[in-house]
Amino acid sequence: MKHDKKQLSPVILVTGARGQIGTELVAALRNVYGREQVIATDLHDAAALPDLEGPYRQLNVLDKDELENLVATYGVTQIYHLAATLSAKGEEAPLKAWHLNMQSLLNILEAAKDHKLDKVFWPSSIAVFGPSTARKISPQNALLDPQTVYGISKEAGEQWCAYYREHYGVDVRSLRYPGLISYSAPAGGGTTDYAVAIFHEALQNGRYECYLSPNTALPMMYMDDAVRATLQLMNAPVEVLKERGAYNIGALSFTPAQLAVELKNHLPDFTISYNTDKRQSIANSWPAGVEDTEARRDWNWHPEYDLVTMTAHMLDHLTPVYKNNSNTAAVS
Ligand SMILES: NC(=O)c1ccc[n+]([C@@H]2O[C@H](COP(=O)([O-])OP(=O)(O)OC[C@H]3O[C@@H](n4cnc5c(N)ncnc54)[C@H](O)[C@@H]3O)[C@@H](O)[C@H]2O)c1
Repeated sequence: MKHDKKQLSPVILVTGARGQIGTELVAALRNVYGREQVIATDLHDAAALPDLEGPYRQLNVLDKDELENLVATYGVTQIYHLAATLSAKGEEAPLKAWHLNMQSLLNILEAAKDHKLDKVFWPSSIAVFGPSTARKISPQNALLDPQTVYGISKEAGEQWCAYYREHYGVDVRSLRYPGLISYSAPAGGGTTDYAVAIFHEALQNGRYECYLSPNTALPMMYMDDAVRATLQLMNAPVEVLKERGAYNIGALSFTPAQLAVELKNHLPDFTISYNTDKRQSIANSWPAGVEDTEARRDWNWHPEYDLVTMTAHMLDHLTPVYKNNSNTAAVS
């Protein structure tokens, strides 16, 4: 499949497409642009993936030659670069996380420059914030003092994106995602993973041991909102994007105790206990919420899910999965 760059429909390559965000973003992009227009890529061999629903290529994003080869072969016009090591996992092997997060971004930005791509999406994170940020709600232009290698890579990444935009005219757009909550794919090693795991454990075992303390409030967002925000940002006319770094986007802010109360409204026997680990100190360095006036002003950002609707939606999707599993176990 070789595409004509002048055609109207973009040809989109997604890296890290099998991860928590990629799983849903690829489906959403295919809905909008068509199945064949979106090439999903990740580390896995296609032969090991029976559930592929469109074009897929194995790609280690550190392999610059193979990346360039795919861009040229498919006539790629946009890249959504999602492959990365997340905050908690990054602390286990900081130099490896730095190498993956930075070198992969530079490979993508170089490809965008050399192949004159129309647009690039690269997610930043609330991990760019640190202790000097207002604890309650962090403004767009807060001083960035990240405490993790992941946060440092996101801060540096924001600067590299600005550099390629300024010096080479690469149209790279970015959001500082908060912790994302979804039912399709497991969370990938971040500090906010508890907010996904708690649903699975509640339905499977009726209890959850949380690695953060009960009153740790963090910025969060339901995946439907995150995907919608991403598409909205990427479709906005370039001239309305006044914030040329990564946009803050806010949605939810809650603590493990508040999420547990909401879960108990649906599952009255659910219990939660607490046993904090190293992730607590990462969470302590992040704000409880973010201020997103700029995103609302420039491209009309509005979240749709609150704690109540997010919890109900997660349970609607996951309850049948665990019911079916227990029926299968009972039969076998
Ligand atoms: N999930 C969140 O809560 C969250 C919050 C803020 C920012 N983000 C950012 O969004 C992006 C995607 O996050 P996610 O949650 O989907 O992560 P994830 O860990 O679920 O998925 C990452 C994917 O990248 C792939 N990958 C790893 N190394 C690779 C390599 N060398 N080459 C190609 N693919 C490779 C993995 O196989 C995996 O499928 C990341 O940049 C992350 O920093 C995520």
